[in-house]
Amino acid sequence: MTDVLDAVANTAFATWVRESPSPFAYTAMLSLHAAGLAFLVGFSVLIALRLLGLAPTIPLPPLAKVFPVIWVAFAVNAVSGSVLLIAGAATLGRDPLIYIKLALIAVAMVIMRRIQTRVFGDPARLQKEGLPKGTGLLAATAIICWSGAMVSGRLTAYPGLAQSWLGL
Ligand code: HEM
Repeated sequence: MTDVLDAVANTAFATWVRESPSPFAYTAMLSLHAAGLAFLVGFSVLIALRLLGLAPTIPLPPLAKVFPVIWVAFAVNAVSGSVLLIAGAATLGRDPLIYIKLALIAVAMVIMRRIQTRVFGDPARLQKEGLPKGTGLLAATAIICWSGAMVSGRLTAYPGLAQSWLGL
């Protein structure tokens, strides 16, 4: 596993992303990642808070139109994040925080998809019957996962942090 991480980090592509002075290398990837976060996490948390009762006068059905933006932002983040991960494989691949972050993102995205289909999938039913049972739990779990992913994502910039907490 360790050899694989070093081999990935030593590929020509990873070295170019990491070391090139071009603004289209590391700078572009980190910038795309940061911009994607604003849309992905921003809109997801907005929907989750609305489902928890914030701003109840905002009508729910039109919020369904926000989901395509969430999915495009996720795609931007998955691609830019993967490139950053390849570039930093030697250190990031050994950091437990990156795996915690990826697991939290996976759970958050499954929840967002569930909210999209269960809550917003049938606008007429939503209008008539209101929120399905369990929506509040989904929304609260999504907020916790997004917050955890943001914090663990930010902390991966400081290698060795998680290892020192865990005494590794
Ligand atoms: C889906 C696949 C994703 C992958 C593979 C990925 C991977 C990465 C990598 C490798 C870095 C750079 C760490 C460093 O070099 O210091 C990074 C930064 C970051 N990521 Fe992601 N990421 C993904 C999605 C996300 C998502 C969805 C979020 C938000 C919930 C997120 C939050 C962050 C944050 C806050 C940073 C720190 C940016 C900074 O240094 O200020 N990432 N990510």
